[in-house]
Amino acid sequence: MSVWAILAAAGSGERLGADRPKAFVRLGELPLLAESLRRLDESEWIDAVVVAAPPGWEEPSVLLAEELGAGTVSAVVAGGATRAESVRLALADVPADAVVVLVHDAARPFVDEAVIERVLAPLSEGWDGVVPALPVSDTIKRVEGDRVVETLERDSLVAVQTPQAFLADVLRAAIAAGEGSDCASLVEAHGGRVRVVPGDPRLLKVTTPEDLELAASWL
Ligand code: CTP
Ligand code: MG
Repeated sequence: MSVWAILAAAGSGERLGADRPKAFVRLGELPLLAESLRRLDESEWIDAVVVAAPPGWEEPSVLLAEELGAGTVSAVVAGGATRAESVRLALADVPADAVVVLVHDAARPFVDEAVIERVLAPLSEGWDGVVPALPVSDTIKRVEGDRVVETLERDSLVAVQTPQAFLADVLRAAIAAGEGSDCASLVEAHGGRVRVVPGDPRLLKVTTPEDLELAASWL
């Protein structure tokens, strides 16, 4: 069974507010992108990787993959205006015989073998997609402007992370049919069965400068 990974790294990192796209902001000695790229490359579960790079940063991405000796990197494509569009563009470089596609955010540097195993396993038990998630500890309210409209039942809510795994055919069909939104919601909307498995607090998404500092302290 061939497993391909899409590394979504094409975002601009507006909330981080650096002078370059988030994937190329330093985490320790190397660009943020390096950590997740190296980990996916080293995973014994993943056969090949397609990187969606920030537009204009394809060449530095290829050079980084070379510097890391990341031999499983099959293609680097320019990403699109939204994450979903970046994933769609990368998926075009995943061959038709790929069985499983794992989609991961480069903004989550600390992907590890255990969570990759957790999201892959249910795909051989009849699930179409698998997402890692954490319970939410805060009470979540739905608001319109500054007015609270609804208090949601915390027990039925989870905070979803990446890597997310999908049967390749199901992901292709869902992405062809839908617009916007994240991959798992497209698969759900397309009638796919998506399972949730335990996430990991270490899968922190680097969004703000404070997140970057925290992530650097974990290196
Ligand atoms: N992403 C992408 N293509 C886009 C937008 C986002 O590949 N057009 C990727 C990002 O590179 C990141 C992941 O999707 O790895 C999650 O997105 P997010 O954390 O929101 O990153 P940015 O969109 O870059 O950050 P911001 O929203 O602050 O601009
Ligand atoms: Mg974003």
